[in-house]
Amino acid sequence: DKTEQDELKKAAAKIAADKVENGIVLGVGTGSTVKFFIDWLGQRRNEGLKLKQIVTTSSRSKKQLEDLSFKVDELCDVDQVDLTVDGADRVDDNLDGIKGGGAALTLEKNVAVNSKKNIWIVDESKLVHHLSGFKLPVEVLPISAMQVKRRFESQGLNPEFRMVDGKRLKTHYGNYILDLDISPIPVPEGLADYLDHTVGVVEHGLFLNICDEVIVAKSDGIEEIKR
Ligand code: A5P
Repeated sequence: DKTEQDELKKAAAKIAADKVENGIVLGVGTGSTVKFFIDWLGQRRNEGLKLKQIVTTSSRSKKQLEDLSFKVDELCDVDQVDLTVDGADRVDDNLDGIKGGGAALTLEKNVAVNSKKNIWIVDESKLVHHLSGFKLPVEVLPISAMQVKRRFESQGLNPEFRMVDGKRLKTHYGNYILDLDISPIPVPEGLADYLDHTVGVVEHGLFLNICDEVIVAKSDGIEEIKR
């Protein structure tokens, strides 16, 4: 049930919070599991933890951090992030993942690739052998969104605009999200390469070779998986 799952997420979040070292630049992601991580971070700060800087990937996490009196900086104001703790929507056997369920993939990926280390905290429902079971979010520029959508259609990628209240969702940067319905994703590296080279694509939710460690909240305990 929900309370039990929350307890597990909380336990996974604590393990991640205990890995945060004094004096680092910390990246903080988004989601219900990260919410518990921020709570633990507040507790560690009360016990003496001092961070150099904090950046975050969403306004919700930013607010929670600021409510706990953490000062939050923008990514452009930090040199390099030492450690980022984030959630994920799917994680496969290679620790590659799909992110962007919350439409914040562009900032999430920019924080992640500029972070020396990335830890993901997830519950076991996110674990898959091959990336599957979650539509792949792709952020696209409005100026060519129709053409990009058609190109994706002809590639068999089944794109749909993400909608909110009957209108296309607009990201923080004023772009659209095309969710690609492909499950499983046969060759994630090939698809990532194709998307990276498609004009009009701002960023996509394939996070390959980024995560160093996953902390999984399972009903029978916590599992830590390292790359
Ligand atoms: C945001 O775009 C996602 O990648 C989140 O990190 C993800 O949805 C995790 O959220 P939960 O911890 O609530 O599952």
